This record gives sequence, C-alpha cells and structure tokens, in this order.
Amino acid sequence: MKIAIIGAGNLGLSIAKGVLHSNGATTMYLTKRNLDEIKNFEKYGNVTVTSDNREAVKHSDILIFAVQPGHFQAILEQVKDLLTEKHVVISTITGFSISKMEETIGSDKYIIRSMPNTAISVSNSMTCICSNELGKKRIDLAKAIFNRMGHSLEIPEEQMQAATVICASGIAFWMRLIRATTQGAIQLGFDAKEAQELAMHTCNGAANLLIESGTHPEEEIDRVTTPKGCTIEGLNEMEHQGLSSSLIRGIVTSFEKISQIRKG
Ligand SMILES: NC(=O)c1ccc[n+]([C@@H]2O[C@H](COP(=O)([O-])OP(=O)(O)OC[C@H]3O[C@@H](n4cnc5c(N)ncnc54)[C@H](OP(=O)(O)O)[C@@H]3O)[C@@H](O)[C@H]2O)c1
Repeated sequence: MKIAIIGAGNLGLSIAKGVLHSNGATTMYLTKRNLDEIKNFEKYGNVTVTSDNREAVKHSDILIFAVQPGHFQAILEQVKDLLTEKHVVISTITGFSISKMEETIGSDKYIIRSMPNTAISVSNSMTCICSNELGKKRIDLAKAIFNRMGHSLEIPEEQMQAATVICASGIAFWMRLIRATTQGAIQLGFDAKEAQELAMHTCNGAANLLIESGTHPEEEIDRVTTPKGCTIEGLNEMEHQGLSSSLIRGIVTSFEKISQIRKG
C-alpha cells in the first residue's frame, strides 16, 4: 500500500507509527508545513517527509487526512485535480461531513470518514468508519488499515457524533474510572505506582475477557459475586451511589453538548 498522511501532527503520527510497526505500507509520505519534528521518520527507508501535499498525493493511493478542521477544506481544494480512481480519501477530521467533502472533490471518489481515539498511538484504537456510496467498495480496505491499529466498526454517518462520545471522549471516561480505582487501592494500602498497575491491568483484563469470550458483562459479574460475599456488597453500594446512572447521564450530557456544538 502506498499511503500518504496529510497533516502529520498528534493523530497523523500515531497512525504513521501504527502503520510502520505493522509493516502496513510499501511507501509512506508524511506531510506538514514545519518538518523539523518529523525529519527523523526518514530513517525508515520507505518514508518521505515533505511539506508538498501535491507530491504526496501523486505518489500515493491511500490518503489519510489528519489536519485541523479549519485547514481541511483548503487542502482538499489544493489537491482535488490530482485525485484519480486509484485514490482512497480517508478523513479523520472531526465534524467534517462526507457531503461537504463530496462538494469539493466530487461524489465519484472513494471517500471514507473515520473516528479513531488516542489509543491509536499504542495500536489499540476503537475506530468507527463510514463512507460515501462509492467508498463502500473500499470500506474493507479502510477497516484492514484501522484493524492494524486496534479494532474498527462500520457505522452509519448519522451515528458519528454518538461514536465520538463513546470512543473518543470515552478514553477520558475510562481514565477517570481507572484513577478512582487507583485512589481506592491506595486507601487499601498500595503505593501509588502499584495501585495504578493493579487498576489498569484489571481494567484491561475485564475488557479482554469480554472480547475473547464474547460473554455479557453480567455473566462475568455472576462468576465473581459469591452470595453474601464482599464483591456483591461493594457493587451494590456503588449502584446505590449511582454508578451506572451517573455514567449513562454523563454520556448523554456529552452527546447533547456535541450536538449543540455541531448546530452552532
Ligand atoms: N487527536 C485525536 O485523538 C483525534 C481523534 C479523532 C479525530 N481527530 C481529528 O484529527 C485531526 C488532527 O488532530 P491532531 O490532534 O492530530 O492535530 P494536530 O496535532 O494539530 O495536527 C495537525 C497537523 O496538520 C499540519 N498541517 C497544518 N496545515 C497543513 C497543511 N497545509 N498541509 C499539511 N499539513 C498541515 C500541522 O503541522 P504544521 O503546522 O507544521 O503544518 C499539524 O502537525 C483533527 O481534525 C481532529 O478533529 C483527532
């Protein structure tokens, strides 16, 4: 695969690292205006670093755009005459609709819209993707790229905002739960470093149990809650204090906020 990452900032570089670590590209172009921070990527023989977006587009098939939303339109204008049937345009730009992309480059292009999260930097992103009509023919290719850096799911474009809350903001929600568990562990006598180690690996194990076995969370809870035991007593106390309810309300509040921002 000949991949170009247009806008090699935080997200763009995370994607670049994921692709490079999984040997996912035959050639890779990385672009940004100021090249100082990405010069070192040229140590990988197949990587070219440039501020010339047009050169990157000419020499690549898969174009992953990871610039700030305010820059995207102008960059699409800059390269649109170079786009051919070989190109797959993948946008990571939050809030930039497929129809807006089609207005600029045409609906006769393969267009994919994606929503990764910051765990893409450790190749563990939950990435939601959708496409225009033609892009459906390249959705498996896009999934293959993002599956190298975690897990991907195709969703309708209307669900992209909801996916942003669950997957992108979701990183912050889970961090807070891990931090709270860490604080509890410190109170029980572990030092801060050990407490975080216990919290994050238990969290990772819980998620992996579900991923690997395909079970429902309540089934796994049943396995560890002895009648009259300490786990059910602690769990019920958490629920009396509103654990599930506060999480659901927080998720809905974030969704209401993102919906207002998009309208405004
Ligand atoms: N970070 C995340 O977790 C995340 C998750 C999902 C989606 N997103 C989306 O991903 C996009 C990028 O986010 P980010 O956090 O990676 O932003 P960022 O760190 O600011 O990266 C954007 C990069 O674009 C480069 N750039 C600006 N103008 C350019 C041009 N004309 N040609 C080529 N490169 C150009 C900038 O470098 P120069 O100034 O040197 O050109 C910068 O390095 C955003 O639209 C965001 O909505 C981010």
